[in-house]
Amino acid sequence: MEYRIKDISLADKGKKKIEWAESHMPVLLSLMKKYEDSKPLKDVVVGGCLHVTKETAVLTKTLAAAGATVAWSGCNPLSTNDDIAASLVKDEGLSIFASRGVNNKEYYDDIYSVLKFNPDITIDDGADLTIEFHKNLDKYGKNIKGGTEETTTGVQRLKALEKNSKLGYPIVAVNDAETKHDFDNVYGTGQSALDGIIRATNVLLSGKTVVVAGYGHVGKGIASRARGFGASVIVTEIDPINALKARMDGFMVKTMQDAASAGDVFITSTGCKDVITGSHFETMKDGVILANAGHFNVEISIDDLTTISKSSKAINENVEQYILNNQKKVNLIGEGRLVNLVAAEGHPSEVMDMSFANQFLSVLNLVKNKGKFENRIYNIDKEQDLLIASLKLESMGISIDKLSESQNTYINEYGEGT
Ligand SMILES: NC(=O)c1ccc[n+]([C@@H]2O[C@H](COP(=O)([O-])OP(=O)(O)OC[C@H]3O[C@@H](n4cnc5c(N)ncnc54)[C@H](O)[C@@H]3O)[C@@H](O)[C@H]2O)c1
Repeated sequence: MEYRIKDISLADKGKKKIEWAESHMPVLLSLMKKYEDSKPLKDVVVGGCLHVTKETAVLTKTLAAAGATVAWSGCNPLSTNDDIAASLVKDEGLSIFASRGVNNKEYYDDIYSVLKFNPDITIDDGADLTIEFHKNLDKYGKNIKGGTEETTTGVQRLKALEKNSKLGYPIVAVNDAETKHDFDNVYGTGQSALDGIIRATNVLLSGKTVVVAGYGHVGKGIASRARGFGASVIVTEIDPINALKARMDGFMVKTMQDAASAGDVFITSTGCKDVITGSHFETMKDGVILANAGHFNVEISIDDLTTISKSSKAINENVEQYILNNQKKVNLIGEGRLVNLVAAEGHPSEVMDMSFANQFLSVLNLVKNKGKFENRIYNIDKEQDLLIASLKLESMGISIDKLSESQNTYINEYGEGT
């Protein structure tokens, strides 16, 4: 076991948090129990790069219980929970390379510490590890069988790699499972992004105007939660269909230039860059709050913000206040990085239960069927989605109807009409 973490003495605190997550992740836990004796991941090295939270801890424990050797780094410089990292090292004996507040060099050093384990399988969130691995497949790739990707931006990057015929091993797009993006991205980020903003600022959302950039899965969740808090919501979009959906869901739709002067709180969730830039900051009201829920810290242009500001100061651990040359104040949360992970605890355990059940089953599938995949991006099977949804419903004590034989015939034949 090797590791690079902040403080191993935090392990007891981390262990309690992990136990809490476990008690809210029944699907993943049932998979842990199912595979702990047969150890289908014996002799498999899993190299992970994913936010070190209590929920991720349960995933790493499940992989280890199934026999895997686990080496793990964080996938964002500010999202690691140091107490969780400590417990994974001390209590579980895993090789963890992650701490909150790493600089760019330390971030990539941690990724390379994982790659040095010569992974059989990679699990990534945002594709930083997978892209670095591709630059060094000759060196570290002798055992590689496949990988998984957790988020929209990561899948987007890996699809670009695939399009350029440069994908060096098969990847399962876990994000694209219905039991992942229709729940994790919508309800998970929807709730936790607002949780992060509230924890960082204690702002009263009721009566405020919240501008949400991007009305995809994440934006949809944030907009509906902001409305639930009593805010008026403006959506900005580049896709005519999603813009129309936002309008018909009852939200105002504007360009960012028009929304900039109307908003009190701005939340980006596009996976794109330069969504809020200099000309937008210039027209904003005094005291606005800016936060990002998209994967990378490029949605709000911090370069522009710095250029048009005469000074900045920390208001608290997660809020930096910029004083613009026009005297107005702009408050940026978490350096423009994932607000729900920097200023809150990330997605609630209940929703990560499904995302990580998808991760675990995808890893099993890649190992079990090694050699049968081509170097391309795979969606998970419909059966896996249905299994996870069924297990989740069961854990919630919910039963649903079954098609009768005649109903089944009716919907599969064309004979019966008026
Ligand atoms: N914070 C988290 O924990 C978390 C969780 C899941 C996903 N994500 C990230 O959030 C981002 C969005 O994910 P998603 O699943 O909603 O993606 P999505 O593709 O479903 O939605 C993105 C939306 O943004 C719109 N968009 C793109 N560029 C835009 C621009 N310049 N201005 C306005 N709108 C624009 C698109 O048209 C689309 O409707 C990604 O970076 C993803 O990786 C974060």
